[in-house]
Amino acid sequence: MGSLNETDNPELLVGFESGDDAGIWDLGDGRAIVSTVDFITPLVNDARTWGQIAAANSVSDVYAMGGRPLFALNLVGWNNDELPTELLSEVLLGGSDIAAKAGMAIIGGHTISDPEPKYGMAVTGLVDPEQMLTNTGLKPGQDLILTKPLGIGVITTAIKAGVASDEVINSAISSMLQLNDVASQVAVSAGATGATDVTGFGLLGHLGKMASASNVNTVLHVGNIHFISGARDFASDGVVPGGTRRNLSWIADQVDVGSNDEVDLLLLADAQTSGGLVFGVDREKSADVTAELVSKNVDAAIIGETQFGDGKITLR
Ligand code: CO
Ligand code: CO
Repeated sequence: MGSLNETDNPELLVGFESGDDAGIWDLGDGRAIVSTVDFITPLVNDARTWGQIAAANSVSDVYAMGGRPLFALNLVGWNNDELPTELLSEVLLGGSDIAAKAGMAIIGGHTISDPEPKYGMAVTGLVDPEQMLTNTGLKPGQDLILTKPLGIGVITTAIKAGVASDEVINSAISSMLQLNDVASQVAVSAGATGATDVTGFGLLGHLGKMASASNVNTVLHVGNIHFISGARDFASDGVVPGGTRRNLSWIADQVDVGSNDEVDLLLLADAQTSGGLVFGVDREKSADVTAELVSKNVDAAIIGETQFGDGKITLR
């Protein structure tokens, strides 16, 4: 992306320079368009569930900007030689399930032939430019709230290896299927301006990017961070995706790891699919905001705080 020339059009409020979750384009009437695209390979056995997860993952970037989704286009890579069309219908039904939940329409799409199936969406939404959540919006002296437990990458690796129990699989799936709509609305109402969703680069990767873009350091209280049950055991046994190990080595220079061990670090760097939001709120509000989220069935926790700085992450 660095070799692309970003437009200097004043209507572009958020482009790719800040590594944000979506682009934002000002309409000039108190509204701005949020535009994002995401697609993934299969990570569970059931086709409809995979469709639901892929769609929830795609729409999440609109919520991560404080926006509301309007409509989506399906993006499909499908292996017609090996996979029946009925299975593709199941995947697309999964997408429709999530579109209905998110209150957005699916208005088209495109399919290509692909040896490895892929599914996702390009999602368009609206945001109030005065209330958008960006990577540059964290401020010193805030508390950081994370709205889903970590460990999805480890558990989906365990699913692929055939070693995850039904109970573990189901808790990972229900976490991935939860939309970030409530978390986004609560963050915006609380006056948050800095937020992102935790996806492929893991908590450390996404938070590190946001902290650098916002000119803050962060201190994480590792004991306060929630993990999906089973994730720690699998990570201890070495069931860790390659992407998670790469995340950790990329971010290592930015992190003061304290007394945390390798398993903790891998879980904090674990590549998530349809992960939660991490956002900053003024310290005096953080307990109420977290309680509100929990009362709305969001597994939220205050995981740390921000200080003046240049992107460093200190683990306590
Ligand atoms: Co994102
Ligand atoms: Co994305």
